Amino acid sequence: MKKNLAVVGVQWGDEGKGKIVDILSRDFDCVARYQGGHNAGHTVSVGNRRHVLHLIPSGIFQAGVKCVIGGGVVLDPLALLEESEAIQTALSISVKGRLFVSNRCHLILPYHRVLEAAIEKQLGERRIGTTSRGIGPAYEDKVARRGLRVCDLLDRSTLPEKIRVQVVEKNRVLEALKYPQTIDCEPICEAYVRYGEKIRPLVIDTSVMLNELIRDGKSILFEGAQGTLLDVDHGTFPFVTSSNAAAGGVATGLGISPKHVHGVIGVSKAYTTRVGAGPFPTECHDVSGELLRTRGNEYGSTTGRPRRCGWFDGPAARYATMINALDSVVITKIDVLDAFDEIPFCVDYRYKGSVLKEFPADAAVLAKIEPVYKNIRGWKQSLDGKKEWSDLPTAAQDYLKFLSAYLGVPLNMISTGPGRDETIQL
Ligand code: GDP
Ligand code: IMO
Ligand code: MG
Repeated sequence: MKKNLAVVGVQWGDEGKGKIVDILSRDFDCVARYQGGHNAGHTVSVGNRRHVLHLIPSGIFQAGVKCVIGGGVVLDPLALLEESEAIQTALSISVKGRLFVSNRCHLILPYHRVLEAAIEKQLGERRIGTTSRGIGPAYEDKVARRGLRVCDLLDRSTLPEKIRVQVVEKNRVLEALKYPQTIDCEPICEAYVRYGEKIRPLVIDTSVMLNELIRDGKSILFEGAQGTLLDVDHGTFPFVTSSNAAAGGVATGLGISPKHVHGVIGVSKAYTTRVGAGPFPTECHDVSGELLRTRGNEYGSTTGRPRRCGWFDGPAARYATMINALDSVVITKIDVLDAFDEIPFCVDYRYKGSVLKEFPADAAVLAKIEPVYKNIRGWKQSLDGKKEWSDLPTAAQDYLKFLSAYLGVPLNMISTGPGRDETIQL
């Protein structure tokens, strides 16, 4: 039987998962997304075209690979329809027969976005800096057992009433928050009935589908969105997203047993970035941070916000390695470090004079830690598009070997540019 593998982000997202999933999916029968929503922005460069996927799994560019949006994903039907349309036009394919959407996905409705805006506004200085896609409020409704799901979307006779009940409640909350906007119900009912009809051909019980694929000996690649440090349980709470981005989310998000996850590959940048608020111990507020941003083109794939940039955060990545029990790690964007004489690598966290043994649970502690750096010699030459390990200068090999030894896991691939072939396979 072939192996099923999970690909997870090791940091705060945007590690280059899209590129890596696209490459790996060549060898799989199916790629399945298990959590998150259209807060994700996964970039896949095919030839000279750059595609940014938000909901559709990054296996869509490999002909013959089935793509699944599992029940753990929160689905904005309009976002899905727009993205499907764009992909169909770009690739001249039909997503029908290639893309399968779970009937158990919880829906994002327009009121989720309004509620999110109201809550972020009320938080003021303490806001999360979300992607404003309604992700958090949709997951809140799921856990509160009042969310609407794709199966509700498909029943046009009962859907409008279910939406009306929710809208009454949401308007009460908005009023209590003194937010100057109310939700107009009927346009939502009308639009969502329409979206349901359009999405219907893609909807199935994806848990049954995946379990049948597994039974038939097919292989599945599980695609994580966000990163481990944004996981609602294991990330830098409360500055996290509202789902389980770490490998633990695969089974619950897809309705398969954890027994079917046979390995986990982590994806990490050679440095660190973060979008939105929250502690970031190795953030560079100086010219180095600016240089990382310019060289790495570090602007959010979903919101276009400038990403916060800093050095490789060893303790955070080692923590993510443990949470996911990584088998190997893919290091992306090593080419971005070409410009530096010396590359600081954070090896320890110091807090109140002592070295912390564990990654802190409390974001307030993380915000106060002092990173302990080891300076690693830079290579000062272009690694752009290198394809062989032996083509890397010794200093670059040393940086990567140090990183791998620090995490205690072997390197799987090194990415030296956004393109598919700008990759060193190990
Ligand atoms: P994801 O959310 O983890 O899929 O990552 P994003 O797509 O949000 O961000 C990664 C960005 O880096 C994208 O613009 C990619 O095209 C780009 N990228 C990926 N790998 C490399 C690399 O090795 N070098 C460079 N320079 N860019 C890369
Ligand atoms: P990919 O899959 C980077 C961040 C937001 C914010 C926090 C909560 O492309 O790696 P949310 O809208 O999810 O409630 O926002 O999470 N965030 C991401 N950061 N990459 C992502 O996805 C992200 N998805 C959410 O910036 O800090
Ligand atoms: Mg991204």
